[in-house]
Amino acid sequence: MALKVTHAYVKAFAARVVNLPRDMAIDKRKQVNTLRDRLKSHIAANPGFSLVKMLHGGSVAKGTALRTFNDFDVAIYVQRDDAPVEEAEIVEWIAERLREAYKGLLDPSQITPGTHCVNVYFKSSGTNVDVVPVLYEGDPDDRGYLIAKEAVDRTDWLLTSVRLHLAFVQARKNACPEDWAQVVRLVKWWVREQNMSSQGDKFRFKSFMIELVCAHLLDTGRVDFTDYVGALEGFFDYIVRTELRERIAFDTYYSASELPKERVGEIEIFDPVNPTNNTARLYEDSDRVRIVDAAEVALDAITEASFATTNDQAVKCWQAVLGSKFRGKE
Ligand SMILES: Nc1ncnc2c1ncn2[C@@H]1O[C@H](COP(=O)(O)OP(=O)(O)OP(=O)(O)O)[C@@H](O)[C@H]1O
Ligand SMILES: [Mg+2]
Repeated sequence: MALKVTHAYVKAFAARVVNLPRDMAIDKRKQVNTLRDRLKSHIAANPGFSLVKMLHGGSVAKGTALRTFNDFDVAIYVQRDDAPVEEAEIVEWIAERLREAYKGLLDPSQITPGTHCVNVYFKSSGTNVDVVPVLYEGDPDDRGYLIAKEAVDRTDWLLTSVRLHLAFVQARKNACPEDWAQVVRLVKWWVREQNMSSQGDKFRFKSFMIELVCAHLLDTGRVDFTDYVGALEGFFDYIVRTELRERIAFDTYYSASELPKERVGEIEIFDPVNPTNNTARLYEDSDRVRIVDAAEVALDAITEASFATTNDQAVKCWQAVLGSKFRGKE
């Protein structure tokens, strides 16, 4: 009898290849915590310092990081009235404040302003932290205007809350412990494989968008996340069937009536915190088509694998989805 690729194989593959090992995650989080704690004590010692607080909101905080991740995303809350009015000056201005706060801990050259964020680099570990400004006016849920880093030629300020995003993700993790986040990581790995094997243009499918699609599939009960073979099949099937043209939104933090009446993008995946923020606003139709096509290839491969008559055949099919490191047996 042919050996099928099973949930157990995919799970073992995830543990060996995809996931960031726990001790590594703990170690990395510690570095970000050092930055946060240092800033906190500097703020306490310097009343009127314009930086308010720091919040780690990237995949390592959410538990959706891949083993290959390299950048931390950290939000820095800035007192809105104190920040320079000129947007272009804000990042430089924050870098200066951070150099001041981290005197003795970091060399000024380790803190460099980029286009939309300040980069903090730890020489010893090679860790890079992207510090993204949030203009803040004291909202209790930490809503503020986040500088959008995807826009190359313009600055977008999005009203959102990284803290509520963390809570949103945590709620899905609570509803489906281990498995929901694992499927998110497997899908992110698939995106990574698309990029590894593609020449030319980047295959775009932002991690946050993947989390939101997976949250939608969990919330609506369309996919059983506890079986990774079925869950991946269900994810790709959803993309292929809807062609990613179905609007995705959540009514956790706003009511559906606040969403735009008209279509506002080729792909519509709304920020759970702000009904006017389409997280896919920078995606064009060609990006959408590329995702749908790739999902179709993946879905076909998974289907083919289920009919394979040898283990080798089935594994080959899965390698088209999860890359050449995929093995039938661990
Ligand atoms: N378009 C957006 N609108 C609102 N918030 C966003 C948007 N994009 C990113 N964020 C915020 O930034 C966080 C980080 O998301 P992002 O997609 O950059 O990567 P990530 O989850 O860190 O994954 P990885 O770095 O592993 O690819 C999100 O959890 C969210 O809080
Ligand atoms: Mg990140």
